[in-house]
Amino acid sequence: MANVNAGVLGTGHAYPEGILTNADLEKMVDTSDEWITKRVGIKQRRKAAPGEYTSLFAVRAARQAIERARIDPSEIDLLLCATVTPDQILPSTGCLIQAELGANNAAAMDIVAACSGFLYGLTLADTMIRTGQSRCALVIGAEILTQYVDYTDRSTCVIFGDGAGAAILGPVEAERGILAARIKSDGRFAEQLYSPGGGTRVPPTAETIATGQHFFKMKGNELFKVAVRSMTEISRDVLEEAGVTADDVSLFIPHQANQRITDAVASKLGVDDARVYSNIAMHGNTSSASIPIALDECVEAGRIKPNDLVLLASFGGGATWGGVLLRW
Ligand code: UT7
Repeated sequence: MANVNAGVLGTGHAYPEGILTNADLEKMVDTSDEWITKRVGIKQRRKAAPGEYTSLFAVRAARQAIERARIDPSEIDLLLCATVTPDQILPSTGCLIQAELGANNAAAMDIVAACSGFLYGLTLADTMIRTGQSRCALVIGAEILTQYVDYTDRSTCVIFGDGAGAAILGPVEAERGILAARIKSDGRFAEQLYSPGGGTRVPPTAETIATGQHFFKMKGNELFKVAVRSMTEISRDVLEEAGVTADDVSLFIPHQANQRITDAVASKLGVDDARVYSNIAMHGNTSSASIPIALDECVEAGRIKPNDLVLLASFGGGATWGGVLLRW
């Protein structure tokens, strides 16, 4: 198929009802609403209840996206679920979502790229659609991060939240949809944000669980600068590839890691506050779910109009980063 781009045809999002506020955290660790608000910008985050699992919210988000795209699940031929908190090791959460949706004609799989997972998914779906390998892709970012958070470690427990977001992509005319997409990683940063136990290197035992080796460990301070640099560079790359400038961007939706990271990247790019979307105060950092949740909130609020240029940028554990530029 010649001269088609991959466009977003429908979006959706879902999250648990449970809310963990800064006041709740003040009772659990030595922190304060003032510190969290000033240093990160978070006021509350969603927290799954016992028995709630990743695909539960992924399926809800996907159903919304499917309905809004006015497609039948049987039309989906590619299903990519970005997550670092899968329902189980085997099979993929993508396959579990596939069965739940009845998307029986899809090839389903998971993408493990932390906070950049959704943009990794968009980039792969874009290539598959432009080459004619796929005509209808479902890309999801879904996480229950709070199950991997150590609620005695104040440097991580104030940050992460749960949720899911989804998008249906299909062929659109070449001037619209994804104009440029780029993904990158650097494994030398692996131990800046990681979960040491629970895999084949440190298999799960009563001892690894008791010593919290399955919990996320983060050297947030060291990642901060890399995040700002990488997101800025990759945003410039996709803008340049599409032959536009930051002035042309209608809306910038970055991964919601830290309000200070968002502000620094936007300022370096020259995108003023009015064109930057932030929901970190309400959701915290939901890793791969953060961009699709934010995207759907913008669609629901009417903040994206046809022809708008939307810039997405992410950075996460791995390290991984990505940039996607869309003409809506
Ligand atoms: O999702 C994508 C990948 N992740 C990132 O991109 C994360 C990037 N990093 C960050 O967002 C920030 O580094 C954090 C929010 C994680 C931490 O903020 P920071 O301003 O970099 O704090 P810091 O780690 O440099 O710590 C400064 C101080 C320390 O105290 P001392 O040693 O100066 O006395 C920490 O112990 O703040 C202390 N601190 C806290 N104080 C109150 C750390 N966490 C807390 C807390 N409440 N929750």
